[in-house]
Amino acid sequence: MKPYALRKAFNRRLQAVDIALRRVRFRSSPTQLVIEPTNRCNACCPICARNFWDQRANPPADLEADTLNALDRFFLAADTVFAFGHGEPLVSASFWLLVEKAKQFGCRVEFTSNGLALSESIVDRLIDHGVEIMNLSLDAVEPGALRARRGLEVAHAERLFAHLAASKVEHGAAFPEGGIAVTVDRDNLAELPHLLAFAADLHVKSLLVSHLVAWDPSLHTRSAYHEPEAMRRAFAELKEAGERAGVTVVLPFEAVVRGRCPHPLHMFVVRATGEVWPCCNAVFRNDRYSFPVGNVHNQSLESIWNSKPYQALRRAFLRRGPLPEHCRICPLYADELASHLRQLS
Ligand SMILES: C[S@@+](CC[C@H](N)C(=O)[O-])C[C@H]1O[C@@H](n2cnc3c(N)ncnc32)[C@H](O)[C@@H]1O
Ligand code: SF4
Ligand code: SF4
Repeated sequence: MKPYALRKAFNRRLQAVDIALRRVRFRSSPTQLVIEPTNRCNACCPICARNFWDQRANPPADLEADTLNALDRFFLAADTVFAFGHGEPLVSASFWLLVEKAKQFGCRVEFTSNGLALSESIVDRLIDHGVEIMNLSLDAVEPGALRARRGLEVAHAERLFAHLAASKVEHGAAFPEGGIAVTVDRDNLAELPHLLAFAADLHVKSLLVSHLVAWDPSLHTRSAYHEPEAMRRAFAELKEAGERAGVTVVLPFEAVVRGRCPHPLHMFVVRATGEVWPCCNAVFRNDRYSFPVGNVHNQSLESIWNSKPYQALRRAFLRRGPLPEHCRICPLYADELASHLRQLS
């Protein structure tokens, strides 16, 4: 049995009761921890919020051991840890600190990488650590398009996934499962079937599709929402083709019940600085879109998890209370063109 399995099972049950009884103050702890190892990056993807955010308000930061240690009480009860933020996890040694901590507490670990710093030996290290999910962000397989969008060579991604599959067999390991994270817009909609074929060939388990959030007017014309019919057709075909190919296709917002964002019911999002967000929306400093709710360095975890903003969000989604302004203009709540067109500066 994994460490703290009973504690985690009890917490899951408690969370289901919190939700069923529509509590706004939860007795359970978060089941999902999203923790940012670093906000530094070795790439410069044209779509990334890092290009447009206020540099002074978002200085480079790496997760420190004392920030991780402050989270121990929540690690005990959490099921899944996502090593995820606005940076490349593999450029920081903090990534491994986080993986080791999560594994010490029996949590499942998922992460997403741009693949640039990923090598065969790092893949083997991930297998050794028992990391469950390794996603690569590939927005195309056409070599020129992938290079322009992500700075990555398709042959490198191919080598990594092939090595992952072979090395798992060699070590008798079930994990990590490989995944491809695709950020979709009008320009790469036609790449989806090719990405699916690539995934199927390389034993990649899932294709996770997200919409482009256009953080700057220079990106606004690219949203796939400008051509909703073509977008829906492409998604429906992809889903069907995924079933035939044995690749799980997860379409944008598929798991979200309309009008009820799941994040504040399950999730505790911690930036490398120790600041906490109640959801994955705009996890960086920005006046219009982001709403930090505390900091693990100067507040107790429980007081943040049941802070007024968390309670207001649960009231909104569980009891149809007033919807905070951040949610009204968030793609997860308002799944429409306008909410995908943003402006950071
Ligand atoms: C911010 S990145 C951090 C992890 C890592 N650096 C990477 O790129 O995979 C996490 C995911 O967000 C996606 N992403 C980046 N900019 C985006 C945008 N404007 N809209 C939607 N997704 C975006 C990336 O493609 C990636 O899959
Ligand atoms: S690799 Fe990830 S964090 Fe880095 S610029 Fe690209 S999307 Fe942003
Ligand atoms: S801002 Fe968006 S992601 Fe965050 S709680 Fe509201 S609807 Fe959910």
